[in-house]
Amino acid sequence: MSRIAYVNGLYRPYAEASIHIDDRGYQFADGIYEVCGVREGKLMDEALHYTRMKRSLGELRIAMPVAQTALPHILREVIRRNRIRDGIVYFQITRGVAPRDHAFPPASVPSSLVITAKRLNVARMQKAVTRGVTIVTMPDIRWGRRDIKSISLLPNIMAKQAAREAGAYEAWLVDPDGYVTEGSSTNAWIIDSEGRIITRPLGNDILSGVTRLVLLQAAKAEGLDVIERPFTVEEALSAREAFISASTAIIMPVTSIDGVTIGNGEPGSISLRLRAAYEKVMELT
Ligand code: PDD
Repeated sequence: MSRIAYVNGLYRPYAEASIHIDDRGYQFADGIYEVCGVREGKLMDEALHYTRMKRSLGELRIAMPVAQTALPHILREVIRRNRIRDGIVYFQITRGVAPRDHAFPPASVPSSLVITAKRLNVARMQKAVTRGVTIVTMPDIRWGRRDIKSISLLPNIMAKQAAREAGAYEAWLVDPDGYVTEGSSTNAWIIDSEGRIITRPLGNDILSGVTRLVLLQAAKAEGLDVIERPFTVEEALSAREAFISASTAIIMPVTSIDGVTIGNGEPGSISLRLRAAYEKVMELT
């Protein structure tokens, strides 16, 4: 079955789906995106993704390309046409097509909308959860507005690639003071010797992960202690547990950081408990 993408009003087979070379997403990475999990053909925590999308658009002064009421229908149509049961839907909005010029084009230029969807191998992901993953740390060289989910991801992809070349699954990015900001495509968490869950507070230096927000609710519902504060690499190395969060795998336990074993080297019990608690508070629509 050929995959179908939505591009500016049209549902097209992948081979024919394309954007203009003057699209500002292509020229300047002038756009934003969202990755929303799909389970049983339904969207996971959909409303929170729209809230973050609107905020990113507002911060960059990019207009919505379609009516907000239309977007849920288009996303579902892309999921349906691709027959996705478990996977993700990706949507990207850029400042539209205009002759290359750094300054914004006139407001009359419509923004561009591209939507794709793909299946995920749930069994493989589950296997990784039971094994845990490894992390390497590196300096965070990104810009000062990491709260905006921009498609400009060069430092993130460089960090992820460096992690993979070091044999690790994810890179944790570290600010100049030695505190972990987040992963290259995930939020970062540790659990201290008292069983307290620690994650960096929201601000301009990290993305407000939808999974992060839902996990905070889940921890509260479960009666787990959470402290939102920055933590150092040293603290992480001596943590009882560590994990990463993102829309696809929700929680991936971390078993080693920079070659140092975390806890007993196996996925931690609190991380797994929180992962189960997520299921009770997440929304499928
Ligand atoms: N990444 N931090 C960064 C830098 C991210 O890119 C992501 C998500 C997260 C977690 O956010 P959420 O819980 O809303 O998925 C944190 C997506 C999945 C991606 O770029 O593919």
